[in-house]
Amino acid sequence: MSTVAAKKVKAKATAAPKPAAAGAGAAPLTIALPRGRILEEALPLFKRAGFDLGAVEKTRAGRKLIIPIPEHDIRVLIVRDADVPAYVEHGAADLGIAGRDVLEEQGRDLYEPLDLRIGRCRLVVAEPEDRPVDEMARVHLRYATKFPELTRRHLQARGVVAEIIKLYGSIEISPLVGLADRIVDLVSSGETLRQHRLREVETIMQVSGRICVGRAAAKLRSDRIDELLARLRAAVEG
Ligand code: PRP
Repeated sequence: MSTVAAKKVKAKATAAPKPAAAGAGAAPLTIALPRGRILEEALPLFKRAGFDLGAVEKTRAGRKLIIPIPEHDIRVLIVRDADVPAYVEHGAADLGIAGRDVLEEQGRDLYEPLDLRIGRCRLVVAEPEDRPVDEMARVHLRYATKFPELTRRHLQARGVVAEIIKLYGSIEISPLVGLADRIVDLVSSGETLRQHRLREVETIMQVSGRICVGRAAAKLRSDRIDELLARLRAAVEG
């Protein structure tokens, strides 16, 4: 069994996705990378692992979203962070990097063989400093978040009944304008919470960027993927 398969963390009883072009032996290894902070930290990490993806940096200014790296027989796809798991699950990319937040929110059928320890942040519950919520009071509570499933699980575990409002960004303003009582959002430096006079109530999970691999790719491209993983693992731990 390949390293990837041995590290499988989740296997739903769904049909295996059809191997797409990325699964063909001759195609370059296709990696889906998310825009933003994970990408900034992933490039130096890949470099330490012996994969110079400098072309990604150069071509990003030109808005190129499919970037061939012929010297490593790699092709990089630049996508939205929440879209990485879909590309990987459907075999359009052999592997990708996604935050634990995104992976657990979507719960797709992917291997997660390596935590890259990049893009570290926390998923927290927060509320206005001057309007603390009493969970036990029988009022209609509203939580705004980009992560409705993680929020639902968190509330269920605590026995809190509340309405969850799905937003796509700028979550911190929602309690200030009467849309929500609390938010569930990512915190890195804490500056956005401070600027909006919000205080952390509790941490739901620690988040960092992980490699995710599709089932078809793990079977069809295990040699390439295992080699990449071994080198990345050494770079992470080194
Ligand atoms: C993320 C997150 C917070 C902010 C936290 O937002 O959703 O808003 O970063 O960072 P900080 O603790 O260092 O201030 P992002 O920049 O992705 O924008 P968005 O909320 O519009 O998605």
